[in-house]
Amino acid sequence: MARSPRNPESARATKPLLAVLKGERRDPPPLWLMRQAGRYLPEYRQLRSHKGSFLDLVYDSDAAAEVTLQPLERFGFDAAILFSDILIVPFAIGQNLSFVAGEGPRLTPPLGSAGLDALTPALTRLEPVYETVRKVKARLSPSAALIGFAGAPWTVATYMIAGQGSRDQVETRRLAYSDTERFAAIVDRIEDVTFGYLSGQVEAGAEVIQLFDSWAGSLAPAQFERWVIAPTARLVGRLKAAHPGVPVIGFPKGAGGKVRAYADETGVDCVGVDETVDPLWANSELPAGFPVQGNLDPLALIAGGEQVRDAVRRIVDAFRDRPHIFNLGHGILPDTPIENVEQLVALVKGKE
Ligand code: CP3
Repeated sequence: MARSPRNPESARATKPLLAVLKGERRDPPPLWLMRQAGRYLPEYRQLRSHKGSFLDLVYDSDAAAEVTLQPLERFGFDAAILFSDILIVPFAIGQNLSFVAGEGPRLTPPLGSAGLDALTPALTRLEPVYETVRKVKARLSPSAALIGFAGAPWTVATYMIAGQGSRDQVETRRLAYSDTERFAAIVDRIEDVTFGYLSGQVEAGAEVIQLFDSWAGSLAPAQFERWVIAPTARLVGRLKAAHPGVPVIGFPKGAGGKVRAYADETGVDCVGVDETVDPLWANSELPAGFPVQGNLDPLALIAGGEQVRDAVRRIVDAFRDRPHIFNLGHGILPDTPIENVEQLVALVKGKE
């Protein structure tokens, strides 16, 4: 028999996303979208309205597994991304977490005023997420990969210190300069808990890890080295030691010209680039053969039509000679029309 579905090695080899992360080129490229499980999908909104809050949904592993698989059932994407949130880590470190409708997340007490020692760790808050991973894995189609994720320490720190999202991360950037020791201790704690969280996801069946560094773009170069590259390199090193062979995608949003240093120094297997980066530039800047993920503008996807057609062609052509995972440059927006996602899938898969 050429290929047995019972042989996990051959199952791995047939997954296009995993092949690309090992350095193979695939034409068409594998495709998934950051934040692909969420409010732009009517089936998500329906389930969410039954379940109460977003956190109730995350902590109901049957519902969370269902939501994780919804975008694959509808669009046939090449990967599922676990339905959870980067702020589950602060919740496990001991902050209270809530999502205020129309305003976004709140973490109390904010570490801008309280110390880490004011928090009582609650690591059992991570465990229901592993159950979701197991349930998704059991139902996943053999060609799709399961991506686990966490926020990178810098981005998670910005939420823990401000207690909420912040436009320029000013409070956190100030603290990093003014009380470097205290800030380093916060980053270290995040790194430790995140390592445990990601290990738990891998042990439950996640095949790839993505680190979201959504606010990497607000740092001056030396601070970027210290608070983005260094903690990411430590985390990736620990993950590689504990789980050799599990690829890591790093997404340092807004890193711009620092993307080469990030790719060279963190140990990630693939770098995600946001929509502000010219794909031709990224292709010439990154080492030959280094896998890249991205980078359609989520707003182009809302516009649809020719805008998407042109942008998809530019991106696919620019990355033609290297391993490439097609994705957006940032998360899909809630007002994205479903038909435009269908159009995108057809364009990337060469059926339009
Ligand atoms: O498909 C998926 O990717 C689902 C899993 C996922 C969520 N959040 C679910 C979610 C992932 C990968 C995230 C990552 C995340 N969360 C990031 C990094 C990526 C990025 O967009 O920069 C960040 C910064 C967060 C923090 C966060 N979570 C914010 C700021 C908010 C409120 C704003 C918003 O987008 O709604 C959330 C809530 C959240 N996380 C929702 C979902 C589906 C919306 C909850 C709802 O109202 O139903």
